[in-house]
Amino acid sequence: MTVAVQQSSVRRAGAQGPRFAHPAEAEFAAFLDFYRIAWEYEPRSFPLRWQDGRIVEQFTPDFYLPEQDLYVELTTMKQSLVTRKHRKVRRLRELYPHVNIVLLYRKDFHEILSRFGYGSVDITSLRPDQIERVLLSPAEIQRRVAELGQQISTDYAGESLVLVGVLKGITFFLADLARVITRPLAIDYLQLSRDLREGVAIRKDLDLDIRGKHVLLVEDIVNTGLTLDFIMRVLREREPASLEVCALLDKVERRLVPVPVKYVGFTIPNEFVVGYGLDYRELYRNLPFICVLKREVYEANGNGHLIGGTGQEAAAEAAEPSLVATRVEVGSG
Ligand code: IMP
Repeated sequence: MTVAVQQSSVRRAGAQGPRFAHPAEAEFAAFLDFYRIAWEYEPRSFPLRWQDGRIVEQFTPDFYLPEQDLYVELTTMKQSLVTRKHRKVRRLRELYPHVNIVLLYRKDFHEILSRFGYGSVDITSLRPDQIERVLLSPAEIQRRVAELGQQISTDYAGESLVLVGVLKGITFFLADLARVITRPLAIDYLQLSRDLREGVAIRKDLDLDIRGKHVLLVEDIVNTGLTLDFIMRVLREREPASLEVCALLDKVERRLVPVPVKYVGFTIPNEFVVGYGLDYRELYRNLPFICVLKREVYEANGNGHLIGGTGQEAAAEAAEPSLVATRVEVGSG
């Protein structure tokens, strides 16, 4: 099944969105949308005090984040309001101990991301304002990887398989996928080199003999299809019992050669993406989400020169099919 990222279930604070009581709430909703964190606005009121069987006090937290099962109450720096809110939150926690709630100041918006698996923003020397667009959130990736794992487990019922990952972009996807496949499996890795004179070649070959085995080739992203086509030809010569492909991301628009990708995580637009294993000059692999970076990041001297060359080149290599086969040392994938 192909899931286009545009069909996200993330709530948007658009024209049909809720009427927010306070501008800070609209700002928080936009912040959540940017990071593709699903939210609901004031979905539930919690009675806090009763008199003669009637509710005389209740508390309606501003937001509910279903993926984190967390209520968020925004607060200002105004001390009188904060004290009252603290009291209400304390009472809510006493009465409803299973309910998770945080009181959040505006300055803490980014701090809360670390709770949602976004901890490596900043740590990777990437500032939030350098991100153009978050394409896939950690929760969305996790959900889809679980679906792929289920599908693969069903399709390979009664069989064992060999997962072949193409280094290095595959690092996290393969690790996560392997753990949700409920069939016996072996894991092996390939690494390619791309050289102007010698063309694409295998830099690191498989350790395992795959003859007669069911092989599932796991790729981070399929773009022109040239890389995959080369690997498929190499692996087919080794006569596996079957050979299928699972790619986390598919930029179908860029396809030059047809490649049979049986399992696709997400179909994405033709933009250079990083995160969840995908790099830009070896950086940003450890971002837990997948995003498009602002142009200035590629143009910057600092990060862009970790491996050498100008920043623009790596992005262009992925976006421009004509450059893929001719660039000297395109990188390690
Ligand atoms: P293809 O041969 O054009 O299909 O390109 C596939 C390889 O290019 C992938 O395995 C990645 O290493 C790299 N690549 C393509 N698009 C991107 C991207 O958006 N971000 C990071 N790497 C990419």
